[in-house]
Amino acid sequence: MNKIEDVPGVGLATAQKLRAAGFHTLESIAVASGRELAEMAGLTEERAREFSKRAREMLNLNFLTAEELLTRRQNIARLTTGCKSLDDLLGGGVETQGILELIGQYGVGKTQICLALCVFVQQPVEMGGLEGSALYLDTEGTFRPERIIEIARGREIPTETILKNIIVARAFNSDHQVLIAEKLDEIIQEKNIKLVIVDSIISHFRAEYLGRESLPTRQQRLNQHLHKLLRMAEVFNIPVVVTNQVVASPDAFFGPPNKPAGGHILAHLSTNRVFLRKGKRYTRIARIIDSPYLPEGECIFKITEKGVEDVPP
Ligand code: GTP
Ligand code: MG
Repeated sequence: MNKIEDVPGVGLATAQKLRAAGFHTLESIAVASGRELAEMAGLTEERAREFSKRAREMLNLNFLTAEELLTRRQNIARLTTGCKSLDDLLGGGVETQGILELIGQYGVGKTQICLALCVFVQQPVEMGGLEGSALYLDTEGTFRPERIIEIARGREIPTETILKNIIVARAFNSDHQVLIAEKLDEIIQEKNIKLVIVDSIISHFRAEYLGRESLPTRQQRLNQHLHKLLRMAEVFNIPVVVTNQVVASPDAFFGPPNKPAGGHILAHLSTNRVFLRKGKRYTRIARIIDSPYLPEGECIFKITEKGVEDVPP
């Protein structure tokens, strides 16, 4: 595996600067924009752009033929949610190389799905897993180890190592959240992370940036954060799952009274968006919204001691 010092022109001092700025791997340098790299690592833009270019060359990231692109798409793997109908809705599970956004009001089950995924990601591929660890970026303090154990037991999955393979990072504000995401590359490689969760992507941003005048700054920060997450998903071939809240849309005379928070940025950068709502008698309904290739559709599931499960007809 190449280290950042292997990029021609990057000496010890520059490598230190890059690491301090959160660029720990060749991949992170290769996909950073020149300006971003320059600003964060205190380099001139010219040098930063050159390093980024060389890193891309070393990783063979420059031009892809359509055939290579197809090979890359063929590497997309799928992670089970533990619920057949939800997996089917997602085209066979949560796919790698993209961001899945779970949207819905409080108590609808977003966190429950994330916790279940942290269990299943550790499973062998033939069981719907990705044979790796999970990283849980918790912004609301709702991660529950006890619940992980309960879900694993419910599925008859051995529990000895299940918690060791989940790394929980608690983010206390949006800056902290962004910073943690910037530093993820190294830990992803080191700990064989095959799933990154951000629960929730938006709550700190919404709480901190109040008022219309701060909206452009908020959206710009959110944009950068999501770009970083998406690149990570692509470079490491893992799924990134983020949760999002809903806001009232009082301007909607027709149609749903709630819409996802985060505006166009989230809509644009999420690969797949699933809107969750409560159904009859404890059930939950998941619906795909504006997907580029998944067919529109809905499914019903329920939250149980096993995580999320199908509702028998
Ligand atoms: P916010 O984070 O508040 O926006 O909501 P959320 O969408 O993340 O909701 P969450 O995933 O926390 O789902 C809460 C629902 O899951 C509630 O209806 C609970 O009844 C159910 N739930 C939470 N914990 C458990 C559990 O340990 N066992 C079972 N069976 N259900 C649970
Ligand atoms: Mg939650």
